[in-house]
Amino acid sequence: MEHSQRITIAIDGFSACGKSTLAKALAKKLDYVFIDSGSMYRCVALYAIENKLFDESGKPDSTKIIEALSKIQISFKKIPESFSNKVFLNEQDVSEKIRMANVASIVSDIATIAEVRSFLVSQQQALGKNGGIIMDGRDVGTVVFPAAELKIFVTADPKVRAKRRFLEQQAKGSSETIEEVRSNLAHRDHLDLTRAIGPLKQAEDAVVLDNSDLSEIEQLEFALKLVGSRIHKAV
Ligand code: CDP
Repeated sequence: MEHSQRITIAIDGFSACGKSTLAKALAKKLDYVFIDSGSMYRCVALYAIENKLFDESGKPDSTKIIEALSKIQISFKKIPESFSNKVFLNEQDVSEKIRMANVASIVSDIATIAEVRSFLVSQQQALGKNGGIIMDGRDVGTVVFPAAELKIFVTADPKVRAKRRFLEQQAKGSSETIEEVRSNLAHRDHLDLTRAIGPLKQAEDAVVLDNSDLSEIEQLEFALKLVGSRIHKAV
């Protein structure tokens, strides 16, 4: 599909409800840039783990993490023939490491730190300054790109989400149980919904997509219809 007007598409929603799958499929159809904003929060979490930025009680130490931000460089490299990116943290390819359970277990605590959010939000805005971008996350339609032409808020039944993430992790060789996956998702949802800055919230002008019973193709078709309507509206 080709369109001369390259809009901004924000996809927000709960953990493990298929946002990235949808965003990647849309990017491929539209030939847009795809950015997974969660991978940037995961990079900060990985940096904290590798540099032991924890307090005595074993929690991420926000003072140390804020001090370290100037040493954290995140970049993306498009994988040829694909609409995914490799994620680099200080020149090191961390695409796989950031998906591990130890990162998932602390990332949402780190995402509550205001300075971490402003550090990453300004980089996300710079990545999208020319349009033609699809970004998924929690606050993309509300904070990062409040003027995005299309905002989709994705949701799915918690049981379906836990099963999807469990199968995804199993395929990567993880030994996490479905109960562990479910409890991590519930923990992250709670932190994401209740934090003071950039909480997970449906933008007023977002379209809700509950994909509990939709296939990947069906959700893509739903989103493509919305893209068509937004592009026609804007021209
Ligand atoms: O893949 P999954 O949906 O489980 O999570 P993710 O998109 O990789 O994001 C990891 C974590 O980063 C989330 O649980 C949020 O706590 C945080 N995050 C955020 O606060 N704001 C964003 N725009 C994206 C992610």
